[in-house]
Amino acid sequence: MRIDIISVLPELLQSPMQHSIIKRAQEKNLLEVKIHNLRKWAVNEYGQVDDYQYGGGAGMVMMCEPLARAIEELASERKYDEIIYLTPDGEKLDQKIANALSLKGSIILICGHYKGIDERIRQHFVTKEISIGDYVMSGGELAAAVLVDCIGRLIPGVLNDETSALFDSFQDNLLAPPVYTRPEDFRGWKVPDELLSGNHRVIEEWRHEQSLIRTRSKRPDLLSND
Ligand code: ADE
Repeated sequence: MRIDIISVLPELLQSPMQHSIIKRAQEKNLLEVKIHNLRKWAVNEYGQVDDYQYGGGAGMVMMCEPLARAIEELASERKYDEIIYLTPDGEKLDQKIANALSLKGSIILICGHYKGIDERIRQHFVTKEISIGDYVMSGGELAAAVLVDCIGRLIPGVLNDETSALFDSFQDNLLAPPVYTRPEDFRGWKVPDELLSGNHRVIEEWRHEQSLIRTRSKRPDLLSND
């Protein structure tokens, strides 16, 4: 899968792409992430990519021209399955959306700043708008990093059997069960007997039961959905 990210703050995106599973996905050639500085397509030599909003009011708006030129240049090199704008008024990201996006071939992510991007780019280029939650950040870069991370780990072949995403929280609309590691007894707080039983069926049943208990208590909304 290939992900192109268009941003005015490319430095903010570099580190999240260089560690752990996302780094390995790129090393295995299962994922290619390219970060583009929008100023490359600025309207003048001062690197201008934003302007005052029509109708007045505080805050700048990211201009049509640099974004259109950036998208068109990328789209002339390959076909993109989605052009995604990260914005607090987009569809709220969940595991279902991440699963679907992880199966795409190429996507573009657009990071907004200031008051956002000119509406005409949303109308004529953007195919999907995603929010990572009901709060407003100062730009779309951290949201893009979140999206790349949760998509990247789902790309077939990125995780091995041991780290498989099949057992993640939300994958089956249930939260993941509690986990424990050594020691068996820490300050008198014991690891549940079931996990020490060595009996695979007992362990699986316990985990499923705990998933249900946890989901019922922390996220009952997940059980009432479909
Ligand atoms: N940009 C600013 N806030 C955001 C959010 N919550 N989700 C996606 N992009 C954003």
